[in-house]
Amino acid sequence: MDKKPIIQVSNLNKSFGENHVLKDFSLSLYEAENLVILGKSGSGKSVLIKCIIRLIHPDSGEIMVLDHDISELEQDEMDHLRAEVGFLFQSNALYDSMTVRQNLLFPLRKHWTKEERQDHAESAIQEALEDVGLAHTIDMMPVELSGGMRKRIALARTLILKPKVILYDEPTTGLDPITAREISELMNSIQKKYKTAAIIISHDLNCIRMTGNRIIMLIDGKNYAEGTYENLLQNEDPKVKDFFEGL
Ligand SMILES: Nc1ncnc2c1ncn2[C@@H]1O[C@H](COP(=O)(O)OP(=O)(O)O)[C@@H](O)[C@H]1O
Ligand SMILES: [Mg+2]
Repeated sequence: MDKKPIIQVSNLNKSFGENHVLKDFSLSLYEAENLVILGKSGSGKSVLIKCIIRLIHPDSGEIMVLDHDISELEQDEMDHLRAEVGFLFQSNALYDSMTVRQNLLFPLRKHWTKEERQDHAESAIQEALEDVGLAHTIDMMPVELSGGMRKRIALARTLILKPKVILYDEPTTGLDPITAREISELMNSIQKKYKTAAIIISHDLNCIRMTGNRIIMLIDGKNYAEGTYENLLQNEDPKVKDFFEGL
């Protein structure tokens, strides 16, 4: 049976001056799948994910997201699509001067009508916070929260729009091992509960092993190798072996 991809990236190229970051990079993401992109620092993982939400424009190649060729969308169509594609920034990008509630209200201001917000915002905020286990923080400020809690709030702010896809940029980087593990478990429970597909960019082997249904190795700007974690560990290709040994 042929499954249809939710996101399909074909032959993507992106250079910054002489720095040819992505070279004919391709991937397919399928429904309810956690796809990991594994690559060294500076290999182009964040550039790839930013191309997918059109924060960066590739030099060539095609990106299909939920049946739309994103290069052809008007800005308002792209904004609409962004509600279906949640993006968790490495930095979390929470507003420090706003409470947790106000942070979660923010995407609703953009994507819901005033009436929808009046009727449903409070319950949506509650539900999103419960999904990440932090209902009690609703009136707190981000500075009062630990790194792991801020990551959860950022995830709640993504979940509140009920996206079909979540793009995670280094979700466990900078967290201690126990907290990193908890975030990986949370990512899995979100996948289970909402059947969301996800692209997870990471070089945290524990996170990759726990969350990745399939892994793509981004080496030399290309989709260099692809498979399960176990497949890749057994891959005899020198660059793949080097990669694991270098981590
Ligand atoms: N806006 C930009 N302008 C110039 N160079 C950039 C820009 N964004 C990323 N790069 C370069 O592209 C390469 C890949 O960056 P990035 O995707 O952030 O790496 P990572 O795999 O660590 O996420 C790096 O060499 C980086 O310096
Ligand atoms: Mg990055």
